[in-house]
Amino acid sequence: MLAHVYIEDLHRHVGEEVTLKGWIYGKRSSGKLHFLQVRDGTGIVQCVASKADLGDEPFARADKLAHETSLTIDGTVREDKRSPLGVELHVKGFTVFAEPTREYPISPKDHGTAFLMDNRHLWLRSKRQVAILRIRAEIIKAIRNYFDSRGFTLLDAPIFTPAACEGTSSLFEVNYFDDKAYLTQSGQLYGEAGAMALGKVYVFGPTFRAEKSKTRRHLTEFWMVEPEVAWLDLDGDMDLAEDLLVEVVAQVLKNRRAELQIIERDLTKLENVKKPFPRIRYEEAIALLQRKGKDCKFGDDFGADEETAISEEFDRPVMIHRYPSSIKSFYMKRDPEDPRTALCVDVIAPEGYGEIIGGSQREDDLALLEARLDEHKLPRESFEWYLDLRRYGSVPHAGFGLGVERTVAWLCGLHHVRETIPFPRMMEKITP
Ligand code: 4AD
Ligand code: MG
Repeated sequence: MLAHVYIEDLHRHVGEEVTLKGWIYGKRSSGKLHFLQVRDGTGIVQCVASKADLGDEPFARADKLAHETSLTIDGTVREDKRSPLGVELHVKGFTVFAEPTREYPISPKDHGTAFLMDNRHLWLRSKRQVAILRIRAEIIKAIRNYFDSRGFTLLDAPIFTPAACEGTSSLFEVNYFDDKAYLTQSGQLYGEAGAMALGKVYVFGPTFRAEKSKTRRHLTEFWMVEPEVAWLDLDGDMDLAEDLLVEVVAQVLKNRRAELQIIERDLTKLENVKKPFPRIRYEEAIALLQRKGKDCKFGDDFGADEETAISEEFDRPVMIHRYPSSIKSFYMKRDPEDPRTALCVDVIAPEGYGEIIGGSQREDDLALLEARLDEHKLPRESFEWYLDLRRYGSVPHAGFGLGVERTVAWLCGLHHVRETIPFPRMMEKITP
């Protein structure tokens, strides 16, 4: 029995005989030699089979291995300068575990997006999708590392909730015994309760929005990380967002460079992501848009076009703060120096990838918060517990939410968020 080695580790076994376990990804033959491309999830390696090493019958069989045949291969690891891995495998023998019962539907030729999305469960096996999913996992790991190593406590917020956080128009309603409940839009309100108990927390989980937006940036189910910190103001909140993004980008560049190269991401664009990020007031953003010929005025929200136009002016994420409170959520604190605006920030990714972070300092005054709930026509009963946070030792506090999928789209340079999550949920798509 030889040791089972994963493809990404083969370069540490040059000259040794090992066992690979994987699937056939491609094949070509020169007559005397068959070149099998084998994948195992950690990489793709070329396996060279010769008649001399294998014998007549297995050599003939190797030529007939179909795409996605599962098999184990014994062979010797040889250095190979032309391979991105620096190695290839010289095959001594192989054992097929399962041959496909049908022809594999995804071939190297171009398929349409609809076809690939219908076969998402298989599309995940392709080289590019594997690279994206590994980068996604690294981004999530980097986020957790960031908070875990800085004294934040992970706080799991519920998914079933009795009330809206980000506005009632985008709630998914579910039956809850004899009553109704909603899938959470954001764990923030629970994060605030957590921050009053633990000081610094982060909520990290799936969130749901029933927005009827069929854009390249909207999912109905997406993952969000939401730090919440007691005794933090808006400036501190912006520092935290900036520091998090710089660290996440650095960790992805360090640990997932090979995957970024597979998907042909322009690394120089990511290497720009250094402090300080530009911080501009909403009104400066309006002026910038007007200079660029956009028709907009104080009170307008920014859509994808405006965000793209703003991002074109900068080589790194840009922070836009102090939006009009009329277009923002009920819990945001007004700016005492200009009560028309809220102490909030949106972080817009470079290169037109849109808003990746929304955050704010929270209203900490009981009476003002009660008035905001009324203005937003939110049911007071559902928020009594939340108001308690202001009744018992209220403190200034702030936090934000970072959307994982939009961050993956930006770091991977993906046009549409549908490729950033294994099984995307969108208005028009809930299968497979
Ligand atoms: O700006 P949003 O709505 O902010 C909140 O939910 C706050 N409660 C967060 C907080 O302060 N704790 O959403 C935050 C981020 C957006 O910037 C975006 O990256 C992502 O969540 N996001 C979506 N991602 C994909 N599909 C959607 N439909 C999204 N809606 C928001
Ligand atoms: Mg937002």
